[in-house]
Formats: sequence, C-alpha cells, structure tokens
Amino acid sequence: MKKTIITLNPSGMKLIWCDLHHNLLTTLELHNIYSEYQCRAGYCGLCRIHLLQGVVKYRTQPITFIQPGEILPCICHVCSDIEIAIPHQ
Ligand code: FES
Repeated sequence: MKKTIITLNPSGMKLIWCDLHHNLLTTLELHNIYSEYQCRAGYCGLCRIHLLQGVVKYRTQPITFIQPGEILPCICHVCSDIEIAIPHQ
C-alpha cells in the first residue's frame, strides 16, 4: 500500500495519505482537519485550497474554475508528498 506525506502549512502538521482514502478531503476529515465543502463532487468550489508543493490528480476533472496552484480536495488523489495551505490549524 502506497503512503505519502501531506504537510500542512503553516502549522507543519504531517498527515499520511493512503490510497484507500477516497480523496484528500476525506484524509483531512479523518485527521479532524476542518475544511469547508458542499458538493463533494468538484462543482461548487467551496473546498478549494492551495497546493504549495507536490502533485495531485483528479479521477474526474473539476467542473468549477480553479486558478493555477489551487486544488479541490473533494475529488483529488495525492500522487506525491505534498504541502498544502491550511490556515488556522
Ligand atoms: S466540495 Fe464542492 S468542489 Fe469540493
């Protein structure tokens, strides 16, 4: 089973991504990290966060518009060690 590290910025907290997780949002929730969401399907954009390092991939392409450097954790999988901006953690 492939495991990669998710680093939260600015806290430095580290989480483990496991391929068994459905998406990055699920991983955050399993670690009690609050992240806003609504649709959990890539069209509302409410869960959008900044990816500071690393690579994610989408099983289905986002429907909502995202800027370069933004990701939708509700529909993305982690492909490498990543660093994401999660304020207030
Ligand atoms: S919760 Fe709607 S796009 Fe992620």
